[in-house]
Amino acid sequence: NEVPVITIDGPSGSGKGTVSSLLAQQLGWHLLDSGALYRLTALAALKAQADLDDIAALSALAKDLDVSFRTCDGSSQRQIFLGEEDVSLQIRTEEVSLSASKVAAITEVRDSLFARQQAFAQMPGLVADGRDMGTVVFPHATMKFYITASAEARAQRRLKQLQAQGIDANIQRIFEDIVARDKRDSERAISPLLPATDAIIIDTTPLSIEEVIVEIKMHLKHKG
Ligand code: C5P
Repeated sequence: NEVPVITIDGPSGSGKGTVSSLLAQQLGWHLLDSGALYRLTALAALKAQADLDDIAALSALAKDLDVSFRTCDGSSQRQIFLGEEDVSLQIRTEEVSLSASKVAAITEVRDSLFARQQAFAQMPGLVADGRDMGTVVFPHATMKFYITASAEARAQRRLKQLQAQGIDANIQRIFEDIVARDKRDSERAISPLLPATDAIIIDTTPLSIEEVIVEIKMHLKHKG
């Protein structure tokens, strides 16, 4: 009785976060926002004033993360708690984004989060959003997608997202951060950002979120 798993990997700002959460909601499946786990690890490290080079401290923080994902009834909006604190906004700042991609390059941190991620695979199914969901965490997933878009389009989307949350942002900074983060994520030795060989690649540059969902559902239907 395999739990069906759909993996959605890709770079930040490709729209995969929104696509994953809408898809999970529409299918009535669970959602794993794996990037949030790396962001939470980074935030916990910043709060504890841990050194981002202190591998032992970081992997212990990752292992002991007291995290809960809470959904408001009838809404796709989820709140992310670290202990009893709602950190949904804090984990989206540029500072945490950059620190997250640094801690994510540490093997021990990834190992610490591995089992926690796999535990999200529960009936009736899981939509797993990340960088290495199809390649490393769920290599036997039912269906794998790799969602991407041009760096310019992704920077524009991130800007809108931040502005909607009332966070002040600068487009040039965001663009440079995205390029730097892409580089770090795709060049790192462990779990680099790469499409699984059996992933369906969708370039969302010219597409709306709804159009991406339609395309994914078409593939799911095809597969039966
Ligand atoms: O997806 P999101 O932008 O929230 O991820 C934050 C960071 O966490 C990424 O820049 C990446 O370095 C890391 N990450 C990862 N593996 C995942 C998900 C995220 O390395 N599966």
